[in-house]
Amino acid sequence: MPGLNRGVQSPDAWWRKGVIYQIYPRSFQDSNGDGIGDLNGIRQRLSYVAALGVDAIWISPFFPSPMADFGYDVADYCDVDPCFGTLADFDALMAEAKALGLRVVLDLVPNHTSDRHPWFLQSRSSRNDLKRDWYLWRDPAPDDGPPNNWLSNFGGPAWTLDPLTGQYYAHMFLKEQPDLNWRHPEVRRAMFDAMRFWLRRGVDGFRVDAIYHLIKDEYFRDNPLDPAFVPGADPAHRLLPRYTVDLPGVQAIVSEMRRVLDEFGSPESSRLLIAEVYLPLHQLMNYYGLDAAGVLRGAQLPFNFHLIGATWQAQVVDQLVREYEAELPPGASPNWVLGNHDKSRIASRVGVRGARLAAMLLLTLRGTPTLYYGDELGMADVPMQTNEVQDPFEKREPGRGLGRDPERTPMPWQGDEANAGFTTGRPWLRLSRDCATLAVDRQLADARSMLQLYRRLLALRRQSRSLHEGAWTPLGVSGNVLMYARGEGSHRLVVLLNFGAESAAVAVQPLRDSLASPLHFWLSTRQDREGAVADSVVLRPEEGVILGVAAGDVMVADTASATT
Ligand code: NOJ
Repeated sequence: MPGLNRGVQSPDAWWRKGVIYQIYPRSFQDSNGDGIGDLNGIRQRLSYVAALGVDAIWISPFFPSPMADFGYDVADYCDVDPCFGTLADFDALMAEAKALGLRVVLDLVPNHTSDRHPWFLQSRSSRNDLKRDWYLWRDPAPDDGPPNNWLSNFGGPAWTLDPLTGQYYAHMFLKEQPDLNWRHPEVRRAMFDAMRFWLRRGVDGFRVDAIYHLIKDEYFRDNPLDPAFVPGADPAHRLLPRYTVDLPGVQAIVSEMRRVLDEFGSPESSRLLIAEVYLPLHQLMNYYGLDAAGVLRGAQLPFNFHLIGATWQAQVVDQLVREYEAELPPGASPNWVLGNHDKSRIASRVGVRGARLAAMLLLTLRGTPTLYYGDELGMADVPMQTNEVQDPFEKREPGRGLGRDPERTPMPWQGDEANAGFTTGRPWLRLSRDCATLAVDRQLADARSMLQLYRRLLALRRQSRSLHEGAWTPLGVSGNVLMYARGEGSHRLVVLLNFGAESAAVAVQPLRDSLASPLHFWLSTRQDREGAVADSVVLRPEEGVILGVAAGDVMVADTASATT
């Protein structure tokens, strides 16, 4: 439907201006005392999410699964795992989200299924089965070993021998996650139908897992050694993924998925395709799907994870934002991510004060931000003892710092309750020792908490056109201070972020552009500044500020007390 594409690219599309909040369902809120978060728990906490000021939630997988990879091993794409609830619970969650004005984005895991999925059970049953080619089966190498040198992202070979038929099957992740053969038209059809199942139930889009893995080399050639590999690093990085990642053919599938979403979208309300892609910028940009006619036919938001790996320095971040902005195809919307369920939390990467600075950065850059649940509380990684480990990655590659349990711990809600109100049972993962202090209720009662900072930033972003759709203008770096402006004229806002551990003075006059009126403090990451700005601002260590004219766009007093 070519007409729809134009609507979907509308400058007013909700996802362009909105903020996405990722919920890892096992850890958000347990409603039945089994220690595992669930859909009813999410529903109970939706008013918190709406009051936070975000526009959409993305829920990590809750489909039936043996949980070898905590839901990223799907055994049925069109149902809910009993540990998370039922389809009726999902419908109730959708209804409540709509009532609160929240969009709902699901996680689609198309690269692989669970090894217990009926498709795989059938495929492995015989070499002649009709579903044999739905997966990637190959004969052993002459030495009876795996067919080639491909490595699993979770360590070890990407091949497992199935004794029943004497062939190996490919898996880019666990052996319990066999890879589908996306060259097979029936596989595409089946997955697109699963998408339609949820789209009919009203979901607003999908975050598509491991999308750049979908096509593998048709000749199954060996991957080359990575000359930059450092022994002791993630063993999957020993090889360059030349024949397993970002191959020709992937883009066509992304566009096909987009067309499925567009069947349900309308110019007023488009459905969103987010692509999980860890690639250098120039390759990432292909996932927008710019065609010869200048139409963007791919994912509206190929996830931009580049802040996650960036060295935390003003110069580096300045350079990154410039390069990213410069590489965007015409009409493409930027997006930024600070963390997710696979990466060490921002508060652990840059410290708690740094995490405040990071929040201001994330929510004042141009484009759609994605927040990871709990980052708004300043949650840090929670180290796990060996006997507490749940994550299969840590179990397979112990002690290398690759495990993902630390960033998946339960959300603390009430400081005075057992398990901070997450569960009345035994939590599936331990909460942090400081969970009472971090709890939502304690932070709501503290006008200068991290949570209040997030709420103010989100409120400003929503109210200020400069922030949610204005231009981004780099103003350079002064010492350790990153400087940029958003918007124009009297709506122009200036953002100053001091990445340094020392105070830093910044002359304001040169940053004012043609503004006649004096600049005022709109917000400081310390939440204790207001009033007009003098000729220069002295930023405290790791402090960030937003400056604007008092009557310009909207003005939210820095010290205003937020309500729940
Ligand atoms: C990326 C997901 O975010 C991660 O959690 C998962 O383990 C792999 N893909 C495999 O699905």
